[in-house]
Amino acid sequence: MRFQNKVVVVTGGAAGIGRGCVEVFHAEQATVAIIDRDAAVAQALADQLNSLRPGSAATWVADVAQSDQLQSAIRAAAETFGRIDCLINNAGIHPPDTPLEQMSLAEAQQVMAVNFFSTYVASQAALPYLRTTRGTIINMSSMTAVLGQKNSAAYAASKGAQLSFTKALALEVAVDGIRVNAVLPSNVDTPLMRAWAGSLADPQSALDRIAQLQPLGRMAQPQEIGRVCLFLASEDASFITGQGIEADGGAALDY
Ligand SMILES: NC(=O)c1ccc[n+]([C@@H]2O[C@H](COP(=O)([O-])OP(=O)(O)OC[C@H]3O[C@@H](n4cnc5c(N)ncnc54)[C@H](O)[C@@H]3O)[C@@H](O)[C@H]2O)c1
Repeated sequence: MRFQNKVVVVTGGAAGIGRGCVEVFHAEQATVAIIDRDAAVAQALADQLNSLRPGSAATWVADVAQSDQLQSAIRAAAETFGRIDCLINNAGIHPPDTPLEQMSLAEAQQVMAVNFFSTYVASQAALPYLRTTRGTIINMSSMTAVLGQKNSAAYAASKGAQLSFTKALALEVAVDGIRVNAVLPSNVDTPLMRAWAGSLADPQSALDRIAQLQPLGRMAQPQEIGRVCLFLASEDASFITGQGIEADGGAALDY
């Protein structure tokens, strides 16, 4: 019951890690605002959650790369539910494996727009509401922010930007009692992961190899990342701000 009478806003909340966050917070009695570009999948999830607890979920359709759409969605969620206690900036894309010289500036800018500038814009829009609740922001970065990733320079840079932004904003809003943290997953079994593996020569052996990158011998499930977010958003993490939590199944160990 850690989120009873509280509201969480999740961008990209219809599928993958975002959906895992939505399910974990909802199970703790949260009211969930799902912002996603996929109207049908988002609405199906909200319907399922509302059948469990009427009025506990709603969706706003927005492309997070469009700042006006994203700002409107955040404000509409806050006005509908009366408050925001946690914003999870999760929506993101990972382009296919592409060497730097083959990726255009326009493609890189799109990656930055979806993965980083959405984090910037949504945080700006949510701050007035988070000041009232002394709430939290959680940015879904990636271990690629600190380890890099071959043929993924734009993606890794966008995730690094989210991590640096987390630390800088945490300093700025600590005075308001707002905590800002990032989560850095290594590999999580999501539609994005399967699409990315599908862009490689042998998708199944890529997925097997990716599983073995973690000493735990597997990828994370989306809800495992959702539980890290729940911890960061709860009073259990009341003295944690500006951190990048490496939820990586041990992937960075034993270099
Ligand atoms: N899957 C992993 O292994 C992994 C690892 C580290 C970090 N991440 C990060 O976690 C986040 C979620 O990844 P995922 O694997 O769950 O992705 P996913 O593609 O499985 O799900 C992403 C969700 O975001 C939505 N979305 C995508 N672009 C959007 C846009 N422009 N506007 C609105 N909604 C949009 C999609 O419709 C979908 O519902 C991303 O930021 C990603 O970089 C993922």
